[in-house]
Amino acid sequence: MICIPVIGPTMGQALEDIKRARSLADLIEIRIDLIENFQLKKLLEATGPEVIVTYRPIREGGKCTLPDLDRLKVLEEALVLGAKFIDIEWDAIQNLKNADQSKVIVSRHFFNEFPINLTEIIANLDKHPVAITKVAVKIEELAQNAILFSALKNKKKPLILIGMGEEGLISRITTRIFGGFLTFASLTSGKESAPGQIAAEELRNRFRFKKTGQNTKLFGVVGNPVSHSLSPDIHNAGFEIINFDGLYLPLKVGDSDSFMKNLAPFFEGLSVTIPHKEKMLSKVLNPSEILRKIGALNTLSKLPHNQWEGMNTDIDAAIKSIIEVLPSRTLKDQTVLVVGAGGASRAIAIGAMQAGAKVTITNRTVIKGKKMADELEIPFISLEDVLLFETLPYQVIMNTTSVGMVPHIEESPLPGIQFLPNQVVFDAIYNPHKTKLIQNAEKDGAFCITGREMFVKQGGLQFERWTSKKAPLELFRNILNEKLG
Ligand code: ATR
Repeated sequence: MICIPVIGPTMGQALEDIKRARSLADLIEIRIDLIENFQLKKLLEATGPEVIVTYRPIREGGKCTLPDLDRLKVLEEALVLGAKFIDIEWDAIQNLKNADQSKVIVSRHFFNEFPINLTEIIANLDKHPVAITKVAVKIEELAQNAILFSALKNKKKPLILIGMGEEGLISRITTRIFGGFLTFASLTSGKESAPGQIAAEELRNRFRFKKTGQNTKLFGVVGNPVSHSLSPDIHNAGFEIINFDGLYLPLKVGDSDSFMKNLAPFFEGLSVTIPHKEKMLSKVLNPSEILRKIGALNTLSKLPHNQWEGMNTDIDAAIKSIIEVLPSRTLKDQTVLVVGAGGASRAIAIGAMQAGAKVTITNRTVIKGKKMADELEIPFISLEDVLLFETLPYQVIMNTTSVGMVPHIEESPLPGIQFLPNQVVFDAIYNPHKTKLIQNAEKDGAFCITGREMFVKQGGLQFERWTSKKAPLELFRNILNEKLG
């Protein structure tokens, strides 16, 4: 269930928000401690019966200053007026005398820490003869969500278990999967009643909340940062369209070892991004030769016994895209120029070599580019020398530098070069969609592959590995174009 808290601050605002919340929520929580001069009867008439009334005291993070006995009287009155539930704090519950216990939630909040004895705390709250136990804790490290998942799975009675803060977001989204009674979601962003609450619309649409259940398979992108990642958008929309019971989450991970040990066991597949691509290789069972050579991966897929298979679909997608447009339909013996000498350049150069191409590296900083070329035992040419050419004597040209990325969209790593029809020009940059390099190459009639297309394809390969279904690439393209312009 989705419960939307209504937080005022005025009666007028509260009534307006209740009206909007009714179409998005299964239950509405009225936080009367946050609504000035609240009129309980009026509020309950507006919500209808599907409502929790909460009158939080200051000691539990609310604003009510009344003595407990007076405060509880107001809540008892809410039940008389037809509220479905009232929420009573753990240290006040013994003072509740005249309430139907089947309509009571007993709650406890840890705003500043993750309690070490969470199981014991839940067990103690469960002893109260009321309908529902609620505990909200501050999540300090993503892996702590695993403790919440297990506690929900092992619950003895209806339980609301919430992880607060940015790191707790996934506990709010996965409630239905682990059997939580409800999750709280804000009416809109800015109307949160606790830290880390997600907007109801995003919960429903971006994270398929109503479609999830106890058989839902979990996936996610492990990185830091990940809040701007578009992978949740494409994968969740893909799951939706093929009717696959999956959910894909952003996973902001600091400590990858702790994540893999504690939280990864709940997941079936993971995308891996910066800064974890190299380190995660050590988690893979029997990595392929190319993966070992590249030294980085972007995909983990669950094998039996909690072991993981690794792939680098970035490279697979890049190579696949090039082969698709090459007139020869193979990279074997084709000449390739890789522009750049960073991690991405190295990976792509190895991928092309593995596919049989004759790769040359070029880079602005000669010493860095030469070092990489020597390591891979391939030729190097300085970028300065490359720019002396009018046309380039290579079949495929791949940019892996950041030159031309927003906001520097007027820049090209190969200014003044005339491209040839039949040449393939690839740019790893995905924003803007068409970089200056790609625009120039298109104008000259070359085959072009954008970073956005590579992003679509790498996601598609992951999607196909995890769902065993064809990836809806056109949908992925549309989502990226809509989000990035
Ligand atoms: P990554 O690991 O993501 O590939 P990186 O290690 O930062 O990224 O590498 C960036 C690449 O872009 C380098 O090859 C860099 O060239 P230098 O080695 O000369 O720094 C290249 N690059 C960045 N800005 C550039 C510019 N303005 N002109 C040419 N090359 C540039």
